[in-house]
Amino acid sequence: MESVTLPEDKLSLLDTYIRSLDDQEGMLIHILHRAQHLFGYLPPDLQLYIARSIGIPASKVYGVVSFYSYFTQVKRGEHTISVCMGTACFVKGAEQVKEALKKELKIGMDETTIDELFTLKEIRCIGACGLAPAVMVDDKVYGHMNEGNIKAVTSSYKGV
Ligand code: FES
Repeated sequence: MESVTLPEDKLSLLDTYIRSLDDQEGMLIHILHRAQHLFGYLPPDLQLYIARSIGIPASKVYGVVSFYSYFTQVKRGEHTISVCMGTACFVKGAEQVKEALKKELKIGMDETTIDELFTLKEIRCIGACGLAPAVMVDDKVYGHMNEGNIKAVTSSYKGV
């Protein structure tokens, strides 16, 4: 039942990888890396699947996933939009930029759009305070953001 939402082809690749390991429990981090690479994230049902596959408690898998910031339990979009909430940006209206982005993308923070194009996140100072309020899309910085120019930025990432 736990695999209902997980694509069978990817599960089978993960199974093959797990079976190839001698010390499966000792290789848990490697298995999780592999799983995140395959699925893009580590949802609870996938964590449960891995725990059952190698015969360890799900709580142990969860403990590792939540300890390392590299691992994510939330599906990420193709592009990550990071809204700077550092002091300079906050003073210059980052909160309004954040709200406008949520409205434009129809998602909350740490969520991903239905088309899986964008994930919205908060970030601390990105070193572009002179451009406050700033937003980063993947590793590209956009400055002087406001409700009026948000759409131009997001549209530039949408396919023609
Ligand atoms: S506070 Fe936003 S770039 Fe520095």
